[in-house]
This record gives sequence, C-alpha cells and structure tokens, in this order.
Amino acid sequence: MSDFLPGLEGVPATKSAISYIDGEKGILSYRGYPLETLAANSSFEESTLLLLNGELPTQKALDDFKQELRQNYRIKYHIREMMRHFPHDGHPMDMLQTAVSSLGMFYPGTECLTGADSCEDLDYVRNMTVNIIAQMAPLVAMWEHIRYGWDPIQPRSDLSVAENLLYMFTGKEPDPLMAKIMDVCLILHAEHTLNASTFAALVAGSTLASPYSVISAAIGTLSGPLHGGANQRVVGMLQEIGSPDNVEAWVDAKLKNKEVIWGMGHREYKVKDPRATILHKLVEKLVEERGGALDDMFETALKLEEVCADRLGHKGVYPNVDFYSGILYSEMGIPEDQFTALFAVARSAGWLAHWREQIANNRIYRPTQIYVGSEMRDYVPINERS
Ligand code: COA
Repeated sequence: MSDFLPGLEGVPATKSAISYIDGEKGILSYRGYPLETLAANSSFEESTLLLLNGELPTQKALDDFKQELRQNYRIKYHIREMMRHFPHDGHPMDMLQTAVSSLGMFYPGTECLTGADSCEDLDYVRNMTVNIIAQMAPLVAMWEHIRYGWDPIQPRSDLSVAENLLYMFTGKEPDPLMAKIMDVCLILHAEHTLNASTFAALVAGSTLASPYSVISAAIGTLSGPLHGGANQRVVGMLQEIGSPDNVEAWVDAKLKNKEVIWGMGHREYKVKDPRATILHKLVEKLVEERGGALDDMFETALKLEEVCADRLGHKGVYPNVDFYSGILYSEMGIPEDQFTALFAVARSAGWLAHWREQIANNRIYRPTQIYVGSEMRDYVPINERS
C-alpha cells in the first residue's frame, strides 16, 4: 500500500494543460503565457477564452464571446425573487453557492454528457460555460443591493464583465482606472492549477454532474479561510494591527501562539506569489493616482510583509494572492465579505476549463483510504451497553 500524504501534498491527481506553477521561481502561466504578460495586455474575457480553449482567440472569436456573455448577464426573475428571501446577513459565498446551484434547475441537460465529450462541439457545454461565467458577477453585485432591501441594479450589455460588476455594485459609470484594476484582478484570480476548489470541481465533474453542481461544489470549497476566504481575513487583520508600529509585537504574539498570519504562505510557492507582486504594484499605482499618500492599511501591510519575511522567510512563507487583493478591493469601496465572492467570479473561468478537460477524458475519482478503525466486533443490544 502506498504512503498516505496529508493534504495530498505533491500527489498528482490529474494531467492538465491549463496552467503551470514554478513555486521556487515564483512563476505562474496560463496555457504557456506568463501571468504578467496577460495582466499587462489581456482582458478577463480574452484570458477566459485562452483558459477554456487553449489558444488566444481571434478578434472575431473574442467579440462573439463578449457578446454572448453580455446577453447572459441578466438573472432570471425567480432566482432574484429567491435571493430576496435569503437571510439579509447571509454570507455572499453562501448566497452565491445557493444561487448557482439553483441556476442548474433552470438550465437542465446533463444527459448529453458521456465522459468522452469534445466540449467545443457540444452546444450544452458551450452554453452552460457562457451562462455560468456571465452570471457570477451579476449575482454577487445584485446581492449587495438585495441584502439591504433594495432592488438590484440591472446589468448593462454595453459593459465588460469588470465594468458591469462595478456598475452593478455602485450604480455609477465605472471609473476607467478602477475598471482596469478590477479586470486585472479577475485575470489574476482566474486560474491556479489544482488548488482545493478546482480539485472539488474535478471530483464533482468526474461523476458527470451538471456544471452548476460542479461550480457550486467549488464555491463551497473556496469559501474556507485557508483558501479564498483568507482575503476577507487580511483586511480585518490589518485593521486589528492598526498601525505599522504595532506590527512586530503583533506578529511575534501570533507566532508564539502558533496562529497563522492571513495572506501569507502557500503550498506551491516558496517565494512571493507572482499574483501578490502584481497586486502590490496595482496598490502602488492607486496610491500614486490619489496623490501619493499611503493609507494606514497599506503602510501596515508593507511593514507586515517585511516582518514576515524576517520571521517566516526561512520556511518559504511570503505574501500570497490574498494579501494585497483585499486592500485593493477595500480601496474600491467593496465590502469585505464580498472579497471571496469576487475571487469566485474570476475563478469560474478556471473551474470550467478544468471541468471541460475532465469530461473530455473522464474517469470517476474514487481514491482509497488507509483504514485505522476497529476490528470486526459483535453488535451489543442497547440495554446491555454500559
Ligand atoms: N502564518 C504563519 N506560519 C505559517 C503560515 C502563515 N500564514 N503559513 C505557513 N506557515 C508555517 C507553518 O506553521 C509551518 O511551520 P512548521 O514547519 O514550523 O510547522 C510551515 O510554515 C509550513 O506550513 P504548512 O501549514 O505545512 O503549509 P501548507 O502548505 O499545509 O498550508 C496554507 C498552506 C496556505 C494553508 C498556509 O500557508 C496558511 O494557512 N496560510 C494562511 C491562510 C491563507 O492566506 N490562505 C490563502 C492561500 S492562497
């Protein structure tokens, strides 16, 4: 019997051509293109097509895809009505998981999946992929209004995914710099090899469950604080620390109590996460745009990065993607509990790319276990038990 490796560290669970990480050098690429290149030149829509199909699209393919997405921004009336009945203090990730799994009832049709599906040839796979990617952001933005008792803002089919997301959040014409930053954030969060939520998506997909069940499983998995949920915790942590002067004592106390520092460390990276480096630069750009004054939260974050490099660098623990994304979203006026939901909006692209790869050459996931329970024993009637 093979050894058990907790957390399946280093155990390959699939073959994939979608993305690649070199954790020693701090490299992440989508389909062979460095993330930095995509962040500088691409859009969320283009990067999504790259992830889904393996190649950069032609102008026509990109225009058609944008058009299809925009035609799918509107959310069905019954889903909206259902959302009105959710508890108003419900977490956006719970809302999103419930809404996405409910969408599956409105767009049925798994019966055509065989487990050897050439995804591009199947209208069902194409349509559901577009439908899910298009509807994630409007669902998240709608919740921002519904939970306070307001009618949601209707999506606009002349806007990109990032622009429409900001528009539906605020009701205002999106500021071009904010829209660009949001677009880059979506690209950066779109895919990341076989992380916990993508693995959950693969396991669900391997049963030939519907893509709505697949994405719902992935959203639930992303919500945990050791995964996507960390970005929400980072801002709370920085607020708790309060000022750069408090960082050293705060870190030392946490480490003494064996507590984790949110937004630090990653199973794959032994250096600073390349996404954190890009996000760090975006925060600097925003600061510059606003006249150069660092706010307390950013200054505290910079000091925290420095102190953690000193205390945890020898363990390969450096800022991950969640460290700076929360600061950016805060600066955009997005409430903290929505940060992980924004991560999910972007990651729907990667989850669906992996789902398509899985169902094109499927075998159901059925790992084994090492049994450590009791030997066979006799059943004792309840009145004879002590
Ligand atoms: N704060 C303090 N110490 C940390 C740490 C953190 N954020 N991340 C890792 N470490 C330490 C561990 O305590 C461990 O130390 P030890 O060898 O002395 O026991 C060592 O670094 C290795 O960490 P380990 O927990 O084995 O790594 P992992 O691969 O199992 O876990 C994470 C990876 C992401 C779950 C972990 O780094 C973490 O909990 N980070 C904070 C949550 C977070 O930001 N998640 C978002 C990930 S994108």
